[in-house]
Amino acid sequence: MIKKEWREKGFVDEPIPQEIDLKLEIRRLCKEKNAVIMGHYYTRAEIQDVADFVGDSLALAQQAAKTRADIIVMCGVHFMAETNKILCPDKLVLLPDLNAGCSLADSCPAEELAKYKKEHPDYKVVAYVNTSAAVKALTDVVVTSSNARAVVDSFPKDEKIIFAPDKNLGNYLNAVTGRSMMLWNGGCHVHEEFSVEKIVELKRENPDAKVLAHPECKSGVLALADFVGSTAAILEFAQNDDCNLFIVATESGILHEMQKRCPNKRFIPVPPLSGGCACNECAYMRLNTLEKLYNCLKYEWPFVELDERMRECAKRPIERMLEISERMK
Ligand code: 13P
Ligand code: SF4
Repeated sequence: MIKKEWREKGFVDEPIPQEIDLKLEIRRLCKEKNAVIMGHYYTRAEIQDVADFVGDSLALAQQAAKTRADIIVMCGVHFMAETNKILCPDKLVLLPDLNAGCSLADSCPAEELAKYKKEHPDYKVVAYVNTSAAVKALTDVVVTSSNARAVVDSFPKDEKIIFAPDKNLGNYLNAVTGRSMMLWNGGCHVHEEFSVEKIVELKRENPDAKVLAHPECKSGVLALADFVGSTAAILEFAQNDDCNLFIVATESGILHEMQKRCPNKRFIPVPPLSGGCACNECAYMRLNTLEKLYNCLKYEWPFVELDERMRECAKRPIERMLEISERMK
């Protein structure tokens, strides 16, 4: 039974006996329930370590589409769990804390996009995966930062396009594809905090370092980057490049996997402009803890539910994206 206080809090708040080994118990529950744990690179290190699969938004969607598990536990944010549910309606999709939202997804309410679409009937809508299911349902094709360029390139050159909601990624795409898509005025509160001044300072102190940046960063930061890409692409670049020192302009959770893959390289996270805060951490991603993960597996709550008609409409643009990504391989 789902308790009233759990609903109020958005997660299962039951005391866990101190003597249990949480990681072992989580793995035991996964086996017993045929559950799979997926984690984004931005989640806490201990979550990444206990997950079956760690990846970027695209890889997490691809993995969900082919999993044989009965339960998917999405240790990421709400839109990622929704994407899993859209692709796997018959599976139970758990999210350890329902409060794990996304400032970027929040910057594009479905009603506002619907109104904007009506005002621009001859435009196609390309939406970043960091959107609600309701927004995806209004979209022609979804993109992630891994495949955005290829998806945009798949449209005829003269196609009129609205790109939502990340204006930084949109600006970057306009620059690299030579398009002039209309951009929604949204942004991620973590990536928009990275400061040009701090990167210039770090570059001065570490002249041999290469700068790696996620396309959600502002254009001034991207202009300083040696490589711009999704979390998975950034990881791959760091692994394969000859350089041994990198300045990293994306959420600092990625450093765990970077250090694991490249133990002999050094990674310097870009601090945000306002010193003293942890603004290079996504507070939403950090809501996933081992305790909440254990409890959500044990009690099989919180789970994600979607209206079936909306789910069907949201599925098409994701499938289109997955097809294009498959062709890119
Ligand atoms: P990726 O597509 O690189 O996983 O990015 C997801 C995200 O939320 C970035 O802030
Ligand atoms: Fe959303 Fe930004 Fe957090 Fe990514 S880092 S989940 S875009 S708030």
